[in-house]
Amino acid sequence: MSIPRSTVGIDAGATLCKVVHQEKTLWTRSYSSKEIERVSEEVARVGARRIAVTGGGAHRFADEIDGVPVRRVPEFEAWGRGAPILASKEGVKLPPGYLLVSLGTGTSVLGVDGAGVRRVGGTALGGGTLLGLGWLLLRVDSFEKLAELAAEGDRRPVDLLVGDIYPHGGIPLPLELTASNFAKLESTCPADLASAIVGLIGENVALICAALARESGAELVLYCGSTLSHNPALQQVLAAVTRMSGRDARFLPDGAYCGAVGAAALAEG
Ligand SMILES: Nc1ncnc2c1ncn2[C@@H]1O[C@H](COP(=O)(O)OP(=O)(O)OP(=O)(O)O)[C@@H](O)[C@H]1O
Ligand SMILES: [Mg+2]
Repeated sequence: MSIPRSTVGIDAGATLCKVVHQEKTLWTRSYSSKEIERVSEEVARVGARRIAVTGGGAHRFADEIDGVPVRRVPEFEAWGRGAPILASKEGVKLPPGYLLVSLGTGTSVLGVDGAGVRRVGGTALGGGTLLGLGWLLLRVDSFEKLAELAAEGDRRPVDLLVGDIYPHGGIPLPLELTASNFAKLESTCPADLASAIVGLIGENVALICAALARESGAELVLYCGSTLSHNPALQQVLAAVTRMSGRDARFLPDGAYCGAVGAAALAEG
């Protein structure tokens, strides 16, 4: 499964505009969603025969770029179509039914099965929360820097753990479990705070996803979206909490581009 060579797929989100097209390999690039004009100029240079756009910012594109009509496709359908294409590229086998999570500026949880794709839930905790709290608490406005700090940090001296309340056990909970995010504050060093911000978002997104997975009978949660790009700390929290909740968690290296790849694939049909 791949996308047609002559098609450009665009996923214009609240923060980032993701663009893909198939050359010898899959070409991928993210722009700020404030740069729609620049995206249009670069897309014109590709010389595509079809252009498909999805996401909340799809309406901001002109109806045609360089004489090629711009087709708008629904976001959740695009995501549902793109995930299996990217998974097969990585040799990841997906079960017939699974949850697909768009960890974007906010978070949408999609149920994918033989019948199609539907939104089963979501949360306003997402990558936008990471950027917002990162700026407020650390005055860091770079996503890459926040992800790097979080990977170096340790959130255990920031968060109150079950073991801080029950040092000798006596409660049927793992002592390493977070009892209250940001409630200890024994450390306020930037790396530890960045790790705690990622922990707050990751734990709660994973708890919501695991509950939705139980409700819909899905064994696997596939986490995608740009918030996971080069963000091993977030992947680690999501994987640990999802697995602790009895569900499997997977990630895709190009998972940020699910919507863009799916838009391109949908433009064919
Ligand atoms: N270069 C970057 N600049 C800004 N944010 C980035 C960057 N790389 C990764 N991110 C993270 O990715 C998040 C955006 O993810 P994504 O592109 O999946 O969302 P979106 O599609 O723009 O938003 P939504 O789907 O909610 O409309 C940001 O909030 C931020 O945490
Ligand atoms: Mg998005």
